[in-house]
Amino acid sequence: MKKTIRIKKNNLNYNIIIQNGSFKKYLKSLINQRSKKYVIIDKKIYNIFKNFLDKNKDLNLIKINVSEKIKSFEYYRKILLILLDKKIDRSSLIIAIGGGTIGDLSGFIASTILRGVNFTLIPTTLLSQVDSSIGGKNGINTKRGKNLIGTFYQPNKVIIDPSFLNSLSFKQIKSGYAEIVKHAIINDNQFYKWLKNNLDDLYKLKKNILISAIEKSIKIKLKFIINDEKENLKNSSSRAMLNFGHTFGHVLESMNNYNSNLTHGEAISIGMILAAKVSYKKRKISKNQLEDLIVHFKNAQLPINSNMIKKNQFYKKLMNDKKNINEKINLILLKRIGSAYFARNFDIKDIKDSIFNNKKIL
Ligand SMILES: NC(=O)c1ccc[n+]([C@@H]2O[C@H](COP(=O)([O-])OP(=O)(O)OC[C@H]3O[C@@H](n4cnc5c(N)ncnc54)[C@H](O)[C@@H]3O)[C@@H](O)[C@H]2O)c1
Ligand SMILES: [Zn+2]
Repeated sequence: MKKTIRIKKNNLNYNIIIQNGSFKKYLKSLINQRSKKYVIIDKKIYNIFKNFLDKNKDLNLIKINVSEKIKSFEYYRKILLILLDKKIDRSSLIIAIGGGTIGDLSGFIASTILRGVNFTLIPTTLLSQVDSSIGGKNGINTKRGKNLIGTFYQPNKVIIDPSFLNSLSFKQIKSGYAEIVKHAIINDNQFYKWLKNNLDDLYKLKKNILISAIEKSIKIKLKFIINDEKENLKNSSSRAMLNFGHTFGHVLESMNNYNSNLTHGEAISIGMILAAKVSYKKRKISKNQLEDLIVHFKNAQLPINSNMIKKNQFYKKLMNDKKNINEKINLILLKRIGSAYFARNFDIKDIKDSIFNNKKIL
């Protein structure tokens, strides 16, 4: 099964290919092309495909030991200088092979070196296949916060090869699933029902189920991006809807010092349930819908609670969210499963009430 998603709107014009085996096929197709090719690759992926990659002498491989730390000035500088020393030119191609970490760093490099060179993303985690490789955001972290430096820069191609996922840990699969189910919850109740019915097969990485889930998830994300590429809107078509669960999730990740014991997907799962509780308290979603979400998250082995939300620091950090205006918190909430909206002007008391006064049903 091969799926091609063509994106053509304003300055967006590229293809996303979803197919098992597409990664090798794509790299082979480059062999006779004249331009220089620089591959920034997660060392774990390099080790798995060493034989194949080393055979192709045409590829300049830059192998990176991946952790969140590589999204830094230090690695940015180091790789830029390697590329300049290797005489990268305006017609060169940078290919990123790895998860969102490699993708974010490489995208920032590709967009700034020589004022921008061609860029292909080959995402290797479920999270990067359904989320971070789509939309053109990239960036690095500083001590002042995560992703505060970066650009919007679209790749020329995204090659999604689900067979990469065979070596990925279940914890990382779940992290990606959290973003898939997020896309369903904010935009498509039918897809949410489909996910509930197909969860087991998805977790078994059954080919067709996986490809359908990836395709659907990407299409939902694209809908928001095409409407609002640079996140200018403030209505229910805003790209900000994709942040459902993220205001709370980012605080949890930051309190946990971005330690990999709490993945991004796990943090936003807790965040989505908190946002659903606030939505219930605001009489938007029903008790049944809230319970339905909780049951599904439990079935999917996604966390729904954390001790960190009892701490004052959690609420202090919530106040620092970049969506906030005038000390009031703005949140993405649910009207119902399948539809989200931009909710303004919460104070901490509102949020605490919603989270802690729902105990009876939870
Ligand atoms: N640009 C965006 O729009 C966007 C969106 C969401 C997340 N992100 C960023 O993405 C990053 C997280 O990305 P991620 O979740 O893909 O994690 P990751 O890239 O850090 O990878 C997670 C772990 O899996 C390993 N790995 C990767 N592919 C593998 C494979 N096929 N088999 C075995 N191991 C593999 C990695 O080496 C790493 O240890 C964060 O920095 C986050 O800020 C960006
Ligand atoms: Zn996310």
